[in-house]
Amino acid sequence: MTGLPGTAPGLRRNGSPIIFRHAMHETETGGRIRFRDEGPEIEDFKSEVIENLSRERKTLPCKFFYDKTGSDLFDRICELDEYYPTRTEIALLERHGEEFAELSGPACHVIEFGSGSSVKVKLLLDKLNEPSTYTAIDISKDHLIDATTALAEEFPEIDVEAVWADYSQPLRMERNGHAGRRLGFFPGSTIGNFSPDEAHAFLQRSAETIGPEGSMLIGVDLKKDEDTLIAAYNDRDGVTAAFNENLLARINRELDGEFNLSAFSHDAVYNREHGRIEMHLVSERDQTARIGDRSFEFRAGETIHTENSYKYSIGEFQGLCREARYEPIQAWTDPAGMFSLHYLNVA
Ligand code: TRP
Repeated sequence: MTGLPGTAPGLRRNGSPIIFRHAMHETETGGRIRFRDEGPEIEDFKSEVIENLSRERKTLPCKFFYDKTGSDLFDRICELDEYYPTRTEIALLERHGEEFAELSGPACHVIEFGSGSSVKVKLLLDKLNEPSTYTAIDISKDHLIDATTALAEEFPEIDVEAVWADYSQPLRMERNGHAGRRLGFFPGSTIGNFSPDEAHAFLQRSAETIGPEGSMLIGVDLKKDEDTLIAAYNDRDGVTAAFNENLLARINRELDGEFNLSAFSHDAVYNREHGRIEMHLVSERDQTARIGDRSFEFRAGETIHTENSYKYSIGEFQGLCREARYEPIQAWTDPAGMFSLHYLNVA
């Protein structure tokens, strides 16, 4: 869907064409979407993979999980019995909607960092007091366009803005004349996939984007017993394993790679010292894998570290927020203490 009305031609800094810039689009139900192209730098899959596999401790960047197959597998993870975060967070969003409405006031402007399919934000928009505007920021352009188009149809009274950008980069937001307070939204414990330093940097940048008098609602997975945590990242049906192994399959598919998929297995461990789940791909024997003319040696038991998912107590997370220009206002958790939602004010 690139031929949007009002598309202005142009080139971005790195020379690639700008697909849509400030294009307006009207849906059949009279909803309005404004598209904004912030020209995210498209990463080079090949060079990043080679660089990360060439390290002493091999890694692969977790942002590469989400091709079509990976995104579909991720949707299945969210529905697994063992994967408690999604359903627990949804229940919290439903249960405390009136409180979010009270805290953020009428006509607020919701800004979502990494909007994906925009499923959870609909629960929030339903409960808020006549929200004026929804801004979705996402790096996946197809997802962004599909999700905001559907949302604008469902909520024709809300101005919808789709920003194609990398939310891990600084982003400026113009004030919308008739919008009230700004409310950032960052669900899914995605903040846990950053290291604490990166989480701090993200929080600071988001406070900058949201601006004075704004607020933020963040979902954060809590520390808990190890067995529950490990099961959530190593389910009995092997969906998470397939999700992790898809990274190697993707290298084989897209980079002409030669990884023997049956000689690597998925592992999830809890690193108590760092308070994080780590996902690894374990080489089951000594072997050599290739990408083009590059070869990578693996010893039996050597791993590729593919992702971290940090877990925070309520107090730890509030401490991190205070260091990053936010004042914690309220935190909610489910009766079993599995997951938390935090409402913060920009200090
Ligand atoms: N951020 C969520 C979490 O850490 C979702 C997630 C990201 C995830 N990558 C994942 C879940 C890999 C399972 C496996 O839980």
